[in-house]
Amino acid sequence: MSARRARFITVEGIDGAGKSTHLEWLAAQLRALGHSLLVSREPGGTELGERLRELVLHADMDVETETLIMFAARREHMARVILPALAAGQWVLCDRFSDASFAYQGGGKGVAHDKLSTLERWVQGDFGPDLTLLFDIPTEQARSRLAAARSPDRFEREGQAFFERVRDAYLKRAAAQPERFVVIDASRGIEAIQEQIGDEIRQRFTPDV
Ligand code: ADP
Ligand code: TYD
Repeated sequence: MSARRARFITVEGIDGAGKSTHLEWLAAQLRALGHSLLVSREPGGTELGERLRELVLHADMDVETETLIMFAARREHMARVILPALAAGQWVLCDRFSDASFAYQGGGKGVAHDKLSTLERWVQGDFGPDLTLLFDIPTEQARSRLAAARSPDRFEREGQAFFERVRDAYLKRAAAQPERFVVIDASRGIEAIQEQIGDEIRQRFTPDV
């Protein structure tokens, strides 16, 4: 009998793209298929990681400090939560991972790609997501969705030019790793997006789904 391998799936995109909305839907789908599933988020995912999240989302700090905190929280999350869950056969669905550091700290704030790659390799070695769903949306549309939904944190208060750079950085990273990424046109209605996500999951992970 072939072993069913647990998968690590991440969702990415600029703030307001719809990640949280679709992550909840995908989690329900995977659970309905009988998978044991861990849903987590970054920065966060551990007790220490959530404390670091609180700091990094609300305290003013140097951008390199911010980058190091993101990766420190990620190391804790990966080593203590994600890898043990996968080893135990649990699927892991995570709201953001390293691609967010490349997009926000790299694209958005200008941290050098080499530094980010060094941290990625240090923290993760060869480990990374099996699949990344990138929710892509024009920045103005994301902004108006967010304005209707919640009050902004330190990142969400950045201007439109910042989010344009973040969006471009995500798209470049997706183009460079097409086998891992699925770029989803998140400007569409929720049903069309869910249909695409369902198709992708079946295509990639059958017979394990
Ligand atoms: P993110 O997690 O990417 O910041 P959310 O999932 O919180 O985004 O979505 C932001 C807001 O946009 C929420 O109010 C959500 O209900 C709404 N929303 C999400 N996806 C869509 C969509 N496809 N069409 C219209 N509204 C959406
Ligand atoms: P998120 O959980 O998507 O925010 P919310 O709960 O408001 O939907 O992410 C929090 C913020 O952290 C988001 O603006 C992006 C930012 N972020 C980075 O800048 N770098 C990173 O490596 C990660 C994981 C997140």
